[in-house]
Amino acid sequence: MNTLTTLSDLRTARLSLKGTVGLVPTMGFLHEGHLSLIRKAKEECSHVIVTIFVNPTQFGPSEDLSKYPRDLERDLNLISPLGVNIVWNPTAEVIYPSGYQTWVEVEAMTQPLEGSMRPGHFKGVTTVVAKLFNATQPDKAYFGQKDAQQAAVIRQMVRDLNFPLEIVVCPTTREADGLAMSSRNKYLNADERKAATVLYRSLSAAKELYEGGERDAEKVRGKMKEVLANEPLAQMQYVSCANYDTLEELSEIKGKALLSMAVFLGKTRLIDNFILG
Ligand code: PAJ
Repeated sequence: MNTLTTLSDLRTARLSLKGTVGLVPTMGFLHEGHLSLIRKAKEECSHVIVTIFVNPTQFGPSEDLSKYPRDLERDLNLISPLGVNIVWNPTAEVIYPSGYQTWVEVEAMTQPLEGSMRPGHFKGVTTVVAKLFNATQPDKAYFGQKDAQQAAVIRQMVRDLNFPLEIVVCPTTREADGLAMSSRNKYLNADERKAATVLYRSLSAAKELYEGGERDAEKVRGKMKEVLANEPLAQMQYVSCANYDTLEELSEIKGKALLSMAVFLGKTRLIDNFILG
């Protein structure tokens, strides 16, 4: 496994890879969710590149950039048994050299949900992901359903900018009690950790209602809110029942829909989602 920092070392190593290349972009502090993407890439491609970069431009001024968990040695130990060819761990200076001034922005789809709560977040995500695509030239790139809007926005960017690659979206990996794995779960204290299953419970209750035949999106959103309200440690930020492709809020559920939510447990903000239909 080749662990590289500079762009020129990455380019040289990339040129030596013959056959298909799968890219798994991450911000590190890896967990089983990230590893599931790497395994999928390994299954489907001749070579795998993992990038580890805590991208400063996707964090808002009051967000957790400075305390975002980082442990490169731990990450490399987790990756090394998986047969990854290249780990690229660029510095901020490599990605955003002084004088940097070019941005990639997807419009309508970044406005609701996470976009409305985290202004500028997706501009940072699409810019860095476009740069990672250019640097690593993958045939396929792997993203998690856990960040459903991110995956949708990146698919849109790939279509709009004609990136010659395929986006593969992989299922959300969960703890035994249903909590979606996330690097941010580390911030939860013991009581918050127990309460954090409320996202999964709320989504499951809404899905059950849908499976019982309910198609009124407001009632489905109401069910999610009701379960969240019964957990004293949880503070809902939003719940949504939206069209899966456009992310527009629905009044009637027809076709594929995305149930999603953002919830605070103390100071920790967690997101989760289910797909319906
Ligand atoms: P990060 O949060 O490190 O996540 C990297 C990838 O792992 C994303 O595609 C995310 O959706 C996926 N992932 C996270 N938790 C998961 C889980 N429980 N199950 C399945 N997949 C999961 O997302 C980012 O980094 C950044 O925004 C990035 C795309 C790297 C751009 O900076």
